[in-house]
Amino acid sequence: MQIEVQLAKSAGFCFGVKRAVDTVYEQIEIQKEAAAQGKNALPIYTYGPIIHNEQVVADLEEKGVRVIEDAAALSALSEGVIIIRSHGVEKAIYDLIEEKHLTCVDATCPFVKRIHNIVQKESENGKQILIIGNAGHPEVEGIMGWCSSKATVVETIDEMKSLQLPSDADICVVSQTTFNFNKFQELVEILESTHYNVSVANTICNATEERQTEAKELASRADVMIVVGGAHSSNTRKLYEICSKECATTYFIQTLSDLHLEIPKSVRLVGITAGASTPNNIIEEVQSYVRRNF
Ligand code: F3S
Repeated sequence: MQIEVQLAKSAGFCFGVKRAVDTVYEQIEIQKEAAAQGKNALPIYTYGPIIHNEQVVADLEEKGVRVIEDAAALSALSEGVIIIRSHGVEKAIYDLIEEKHLTCVDATCPFVKRIHNIVQKESENGKQILIIGNAGHPEVEGIMGWCSSKATVVETIDEMKSLQLPSDADICVVSQTTFNFNKFQELVEILESTHYNVSVANTICNATEERQTEAKELASRADVMIVVGGAHSSNTRKLYEICSKECATTYFIQTLSDLHLEIPKSVRLVGITAGASTPNNIIEEVQSYVRRNF
């Protein structure tokens, strides 16, 4: 009997990252087309790496796409297309792009853009914005940059307990999209037990949770499970952890060349999932290898 291979539907890029990566490839085609028509083809830049995947960034670099890291590098440009990645950026970056007469192609994930709109509106209405998330993360920095007054960022229980804002503060809470839901709820409960006036917008995106729930379900049925993703990717490691608990024979690989698969005759189902920054072609390669060889 042939073994069955099942790929998790939510394996790999989430909607927002896929959209951003596709946007860069589209721009490459647009500029190529312009050059073919004898028009002025513009250099393409992404503001920060479009995704935390070296192979994708290297492929884009080979196609002429460069990464700019900060506002100073942006200021030094005189022409080009600037692609904003799915994490989004602060308003000041859009202003700078406009001021420098550069072309902005905005691939901010709509779920992140929604947070920008909330904090902009609420801070203009006089609310104190409190972001639950990691202060050093580019998404959080971007959100802060849409607030008309200084936002507060809280990540831990201790930080929430020691929060000191004016006693009449009217607080609007939002969350980094990838923050853990249970922890978010716990932090909100602490805040709500204080004397502050609090309104909460749950802006957590469920792409990560969906990927984890689906991986768990697939691993619970599979005899062998393969998790594909970067060695340093924390969300891939988490997937591996979840799958290993459900399926004793779980492999963690970066690419097909890491896979030294031995499948005993008794195996009926092989499951495959992948971390958020694993490109589709790598997932496809692994999938067709297993289908061909076993
Ligand atoms: Fe991805 Fe957008 Fe959610 S980038 S994780 S779909 S917020």
